[in-house]
Amino acid sequence: MANVVSIAAAAAASLPWDVEAVRADFPALAQLVNGHPLVYLDNAATAQKPAVLAALENYYQRDCGNIHRSVHQLGERATEAYERARRTAQAFLGAAEPREIVFTRGTTEAINLVAATYGAANLRAGDEILLTGMEHHSNIVPWQLLAERTGARLQVAQVNDRGEVEMEEFERQLSPRTKIAAFGHVSNALGTVNPVAEWTERAHAAGAVVLVDGAQSAPHLPIQVGALGCDFFAFSGHKVFGPTGIGVLWGRAELLEAMPPFQGGGDMIASVSFERTTYNRIPYKFEAGTPHIAGAIGLGAALEYLQTLGMTRAAAYEQELARYGAERLAPLPGVRWIGQARERTAVFSLVIEGVHPHDVATVLDTEGIAVRAGHHCAQPIMDRFGVPATTRASLAFYNTRGEVDRLAEGLEKVRRIFQG
Ligand code: ALA
Repeated sequence: MANVVSIAAAAAASLPWDVEAVRADFPALAQLVNGHPLVYLDNAATAQKPAVLAALENYYQRDCGNIHRSVHQLGERATEAYERARRTAQAFLGAAEPREIVFTRGTTEAINLVAATYGAANLRAGDEILLTGMEHHSNIVPWQLLAERTGARLQVAQVNDRGEVEMEEFERQLSPRTKIAAFGHVSNALGTVNPVAEWTERAHAAGAVVLVDGAQSAPHLPIQVGALGCDFFAFSGHKVFGPTGIGVLWGRAELLEAMPPFQGGGDMIASVSFERTTYNRIPYKFEAGTPHIAGAIGLGAALEYLQTLGMTRAAAYEQELARYGAERLAPLPGVRWIGQARERTAVFSLVIEGVHPHDVATVLDTEGIAVRAGHHCAQPIMDRFGVPATTRASLAFYNTRGEVDRLAEGLEKVRRIFQG
């Protein structure tokens, strides 16, 4: 998996990462929780926000107009800011054109959009949709709904004991009947970084169209959709340090153009009569109704922030934290973490013998440490490892070694409380 290696190489040549300066950009990190400095380790669920707040305030307090409709100054400013955010998202993904960027409510809506439009138009009974055993529910259920509607079938590439899908297994599940392959770039539950460029190549060779769920990779890895080679890529605003309720679907222009619309309403049309409606050009064809204008503008601000920080440097710092976390957590007695893939982000899905994950998370919270406990909306991968749930610590580029130490100390406290 060349991406992680090249990140490490780039890091060697980069300036040192000034984590305290980065943290100063995130006001929420400076608070006390239960009397302790907050240690925020639930970044896979949602990340904290930098300069985004000013962009939202500016829109609501100064530029609040509707877009693509109103010729007055406020409408013009709002349209310009919204379309600038689209261009920023294009640059963030290395996409060819702004019209390939569709704003959605998030990754979930983006995948539903592709399933309901491309999928419904192109799949027939007997066709296959290839997924992996580590998908988030958002990348399972839309395809199940599509399968129910069309008579297509799901094929699942299974995960090995380390939490990886081996290439032989991936290829075994591909066939000339595979019409869509949809897989996560990074597993939210395990942190596994999948070799999506190689998988895409294999899926294309079998004649399938490829969707990459980038919800957990866009916040942690530099993304160039051209290098991944996929046909669709989806990510969520709130996980890339932007607002909730906004996300991006990138799709190849020729595919988006050929797809039927998703929802009907304002702005997605060219003309409407009771006899016949014609549709707007892409991406507007997929953005029915007044969109989340402030959200898109806030997302644009978050992505500009990330571009200034440099995703390659951020990823290198996180890889270092991941290594430190592994070193620090491995010797803790009674604590194991599932998913030991060779390429991983800084995610630790922990199981403490004899202690329910919710109890672990509750004790950690009393120490001001925020983690997520549960099945992480990825029940099949929990089943694969024979656990109903885990306690998950998911780190970002603003976390520190000191916070990893606090997590380790918190876990020791849990063990003392529950195991004596
Ligand atoms: N999908 C998000 C998570 O992994 C909410 O926590």
